Amino acid sequence: MIVVTGATGSIGRALVRRLRERDVLAVVRRPAEDLGGPYALADFDRPETIGALLSPGDRLFLNSSLWPGFADAHRAVIDLAAQAGVAQIVAVSVRDAAPGARLGMGVHGRVDAHLRKSGVPWTILQPSGFMQNLPRDFQDGTMYGSYGSAPINYIDARDIAEVAAALLTAPVGPDRDLVLTGPESLSHDRVAEEIGKALGRPARYVNLPLPEMAAHLEERQGIPQAHAAELAALMAEMGERGDGSWAEITTTVEDLTGRPPRSLSTFLADHKTDKTDEADHKSAG
Ligand SMILES: NC(=O)c1ccc[n+]([C@@H]2O[C@H](COP(=O)([O-])OP(=O)(O)OC[C@H]3O[C@@H](n4cnc5c(N)ncnc54)[C@H](OP(=O)(O)O)[C@@H]3O)[C@@H](O)[C@H]2O)c1
Repeated sequence: MIVVTGATGSIGRALVRRLRERDVLAVVRRPAEDLGGPYALADFDRPETIGALLSPGDRLFLNSSLWPGFADAHRAVIDLAAQAGVAQIVAVSVRDAAPGARLGMGVHGRVDAHLRKSGVPWTILQPSGFMQNLPRDFQDGTMYGSYGSAPINYIDARDIAEVAAALLTAPVGPDRDLVLTGPESLSHDRVAEEIGKALGRPARYVNLPLPEMAAHLEERQGIPQAHAAELAALMAEMGERGDGSWAEITTTVEDLTGRPPRSLSTFLADHKTDKTDEADHKSAG
């Protein structure tokens, strides 16, 4: 059986759709008839509820959003998966994840390190930022950031789902980290241009120096001061203060799925017509 956690999320929904014909179990916190297939109620906050769903030979897709208990909960589920004799874990991490790194990259880094030592065959997916965030980032017409003019890569979460589906339905392969990217890297001015064109509304990117960006996050989004400062610094490091790694493009999506990853314009066209949780990729723009 393929057990999919985070099944109501951006990646999870697309993955469950993609695996519809398979023996798949969606793990959800609340009843989710709209997923259109079998599901079980469980919660990472009580890892044993997820462990109880696992049997020898299962394949586990390990993913959820981040919250303060994320690292402990995900490590506990990994241990329970090892005890249950799970055949493979495909986990969602992030580019540049490492123990001690900033924010979510540090959290993922700790979980990734635990998974690599777990004894369960593993694949760690390290995606770029998700295109799915962008309409929300620009929802009031203006996105603020401290990336500067550097190009940054975004990926459509559906492409991550398609890579996961390929891995979870093929014979278990070697343990590996896979950096997943979209097909192009764009400055945020270019992203704003694409958003404005595709969604037919004004969109602009405003770059702020670090202290102003941190204050903006604190005042406008209510993010605590220390976290806001880290987030602003992270944006700058992903952008023009960084080494360019967030602009690098890999061929991994195409290598594993046989199709190029979706472009931003394809994502935006689907977003406009509300097709972004469709798993099948018919055109890559
Ligand atoms: N967004 C980005 O740009 C980006 C970039 C790189 C990596 N990532 C990583 O991608 C992951 C998020 O993936 P996503 O975007 O597909 O997620 P998402 O759309 O934010 O959905 C999160 C999923 O996790 C579930 N969840 C959250 N807390 C849970 C808990 N305690 N127990 C059980 N389920 C729980 C949610 O269930 P409910 O529906 O019940 O809330 C939902 O299904 C994170 O690890 C993040 O660090 C994100």
